[in-house]
Amino acid sequence: MPTHDEQNEALIRAWNDRVGGALRDVQVCVTGGAGFIGGHLCDALVSLGARVTILDDLSNSDTRHVGALIDRAPEHVRFIQGSILDPGALGEAMDGVSRVFHLAALGSVPKSVEQPERTWLVNATGTMRVLKAAQQAGATRVIYSASSSAYGNNPTLPKREDMAPEPESPYAAAKFAGESLCRSWAKCYGVDTVCLRYFNIFGTRQAADSAYAAVIPAFIKRWVHGQAPTIFGEGGQTRDFTHVSNAVLANLLGAANEIPLGGEVVNIGAGVKTSVNELASMIQSRMGIDGLNPEHAPERIGEVRDSVADISRAKALIGYEPITDLEDGLATTVDWYDAALRDEREGAA
Ligand SMILES: NC(=O)c1ccc[n+]([C@@H]2O[C@H](COP(=O)([O-])OP(=O)(O)OC[C@H]3O[C@@H](n4cnc5c(N)ncnc54)[C@H](O)[C@@H]3O)[C@@H](O)[C@H]2O)c1
Repeated sequence: MPTHDEQNEALIRAWNDRVGGALRDVQVCVTGGAGFIGGHLCDALVSLGARVTILDDLSNSDTRHVGALIDRAPEHVRFIQGSILDPGALGEAMDGVSRVFHLAALGSVPKSVEQPERTWLVNATGTMRVLKAAQQAGATRVIYSASSSAYGNNPTLPKREDMAPEPESPYAAAKFAGESLCRSWAKCYGVDTVCLRYFNIFGTRQAADSAYAAVIPAFIKRWVHGQAPTIFGEGGQTRDFTHVSNAVLANLLGAANEIPLGGEVVNIGAGVKTSVNELASMIQSRMGIDGLNPEHAPERIGEVRDSVADISRAKALIGYEPITDLEDGLATTVDWYDAALRDEREGAA
């Protein structure tokens, strides 16, 4: 099995093969760059020679990863702690940039049900402010992190971009509004945009400790602590679990593409349907856990039943094809969390 460093080098080669020198010395802004996907994207951008300004208010992250990135490439990384709702911080972050990767958002569906106005403010109004700031700075493209939650509970599979959107939570509604704003900025203000509808992105450094934790780190954390994980519902619900390196690739392709993308929406998934029960047993066997089978709790409001992406439009428009499959992505992710969480447990003991 290759080491973590060898795997990172292989990923950098894969990204480089697909975008070459297109981002070398290009000035970019990454909103939400201290977060999970944003952090991985910043790693890739720095490795490909881009000059990166990160704007993040640290409401769901900290500076550990950003700090390490600055230590690694001080000439290439600038960090601004601020909100996408603050025009001053946006203006500073976007000064001189030509590409904007917009990832900052409140990411939790259950929290959006509790706090719909806050969710709308950050995820919809915030996206408009990012677009306005990008326009004022003369940026040529905004690459928007959209969400497959736009499809709602429509039973048709796989999900295709020409299906009518049916957002079922304030989170989904606000993320979908962000797509409409991106399209309108491409049509009315000459800022080219593309919307990447992610399907359940997973990987290292995803927060494992919130009540709304993504399912993979949440499962691993419970098992590391000798506890059975909880599955909401009976576990037959399916998702298109997509390794973060694929989401990063989609962003890089969205930025490097020379052809106007006109606000188009593309699905970014692996294109494979996996049930939560199947996922749990893959993790359990990778960790070598005997017993402690998942327990079931009532399903959560606003969550969709089944989801898998048709990724043909992303392939046609930006040349996207996944570079890491579920098995490989899960192996590195499980091993990374297993080690990190065991260290944390021993440190706390
Ligand atoms: N993780 C997934 O599976 C997934 C799926 C679909 C869509 N997305 C979208 O991808 C993007 C990144 O998600 P993630 O999983 O990395 O989440 P994350 O919470 O790890 O990252 C989001 C970052 O945005 C920052 N942020 C929040 N509000 C902000 C504000 N007002 N101003 C500046 N920064 C702010 C947070 O501090 C955090 O660092 C989000 O837009 C999310 O909606 C993620």
